[in-house]
Amino acid sequence: MGKRFQAVKGTRDLLPPDTAVWAAVEATARRVFGLYGFGEIRTPMFEDTELFTRGVGESSDIVGKEMYSFEDKGGRRMTLRPESTAAVVRAYVEHGMHALPQPVKLFYIGPQFRYERPQKGRYRQFHQIGAERIGGGTTAGGRVQADVEVVLMLWRFLRDLGFEDLVVQMNTVGDAESRQRYRTALVAYFEPLADQLSEDSRRRLATNPLRILDSKSSAEQALIEKAPKLAEHLSEASRAHFRAVCDELQKAQVRTEVSDRLVRGLDYYTNSVFEIVSAGLGAQNAICGGGAYEGLVEELGGHPTYGVGFAIGEDRLLDVLPAASRAAMMPPGPFVVRVLGDAPDLALASFSLAEELRSAGFGVVDLGDETPAKTYAHAEVHRSPAILVLGGDELQQGTVTVRTTADRAQRAVERSQLVPYLKLLLSSFSVVSPEVKS
Ligand code: HAM
Repeated sequence: MGKRFQAVKGTRDLLPPDTAVWAAVEATARRVFGLYGFGEIRTPMFEDTELFTRGVGESSDIVGKEMYSFEDKGGRRMTLRPESTAAVVRAYVEHGMHALPQPVKLFYIGPQFRYERPQKGRYRQFHQIGAERIGGGTTAGGRVQADVEVVLMLWRFLRDLGFEDLVVQMNTVGDAESRQRYRTALVAYFEPLADQLSEDSRRRLATNPLRILDSKSSAEQALIEKAPKLAEHLSEASRAHFRAVCDELQKAQVRTEVSDRLVRGLDYYTNSVFEIVSAGLGAQNAICGGGAYEGLVEELGGHPTYGVGFAIGEDRLLDVLPAASRAAMMPPGPFVVRVLGDAPDLALASFSLAEELRSAGFGVVDLGDETPAKTYAHAEVHRSPAILVLGGDELQQGTVTVRTTADRAQRAVERSQLVPYLKLLLSSFSVVSPEVKS
C-alpha cells in the first residue's frame, strides 16, 4: 500500500456542494463591489518579504511571528502573502495608477497565509474578500466620504448576504501626530508597570505600545482599563474626522458602535479603523477588519496618497452565513440518471439521454447502476431536482421514470415531453440557472 497523505495542518479542502455557496458569496461580492465601481485585482501569491516587513510593519504579529517565508533558488527572500493590502498598494505604485482618475478602486478574492495556531475559524491558509480605495481624499470632506463609502459597501454586501444583527465596531487610531503623543503617554504609563506585563506586552512596549491595548491576557485587563485613552490625545483634525465618519454612517443607518479599545494588528493604519465581530464564532470572532492608511503608499515608494479598505475572512463569513441565505445560494444540482440492470444497451441509452439533456441546457450526472440508496443520497446532498430512471421497460415504451427529490413521487414521462417537464420541475426550485430559465 502506498503512503496516505492528509492536507497540511491548518489547511483544508473545500468540497462540493459547499463550494457552490462559496462561489455564490463571491458572486455577490463582485456584484455589490461593482455597484461602487470596484474592479478586480489579482496579485501574486508570493512577494518580496520586505514588502510585508515594510508594509504591514515589523512590530505586527503577522511580520514578527506568522509569515511563511522562504529563500528561493536564487537566494531571494520571499513570503506567501499574509494579507493583500501591501500587495495592492505595491501594484498601485508599480503600475503608476496615481496617473489614473482617482480614487482607484480595487477588490480581491483569494487565499492568504499565516502561521498561526489552528483552531475553529483560524487557518494557516484562509481566504479573504477585500477591497482597497486608493487615491482621492485630498480634502477633509473627501477623506470622510472615502471611509464612509467603503464601510457602506461592506454593509450593503453583508445585508445582501442576509446578515441582520451585525454591528460595525469603529475607532480612530489618530493621525501620525496624535499617535506620537499617545505613544509617549502610554510608555510613561506602562513603563513603571513593566514587571506586571506579559512578555509579549513588554516587547510591544518597545516596538508598538498601542498593541498592548489589544492584549487578550486577563491578568493585564485591569492595567489596560486604567491606561490613558487615545481619545484624550487626538489632534483636532482627527477628532473632527472621526466624528464626521460616525455621523455619516449613522445617517446611512449602518449599525455602528465606538470601541475605543480597537487598535487593529497591522501597523499601517491611521485615523478610522473598524471591525465586525459575530457572536456565533467563538474566540476567533472577527469577520472583517479594515481602516484607512495615509502613509502606506509613500512607504512603498509612491506619492503621499490616501487609502482605505477592508478584508473579510471568507472562511468565518461562511461559518456564520444565515441558513436561509445558504439554502438560497445552493443552486439546484444536476439531474441524476440511473439505469436499472446492466444490459449494455442501457448504458449507451443513458449516456445518450444525458447528452441530449445537456444539449438542452440541463446539468446531468450519470450514476449508472449505482445502488438506489447511494443514488438518493447523492441527489439529496447535491440538491438534484430529480432522478431519471431508465430500464428495459422504459426503453421499450419510449419513456423515462422521473422520481422527484422533493416528494419522492414517481411518474413515467414520454421522451418527447421530457425537456418541458424538467424545465417545469426546475422552475419550482429557488435558484434557477439563467440558461435554463429562458
Ligand atoms: P486582518 O484583520 O488581519 O486585516 O484580516 C481580516 C480578516 O481576515 C479577519 O477579520 C479575519 O476574518 C480573517 N482572518 C485573519 N486571519 C485569519 C486566519 N488565520 N484564519 C481565518 N481567517 C483569518 C487585514 O488583513 C487587512 N489587510 C485588512 C485591510 C484591508 N485593511 C485595509 N485594507
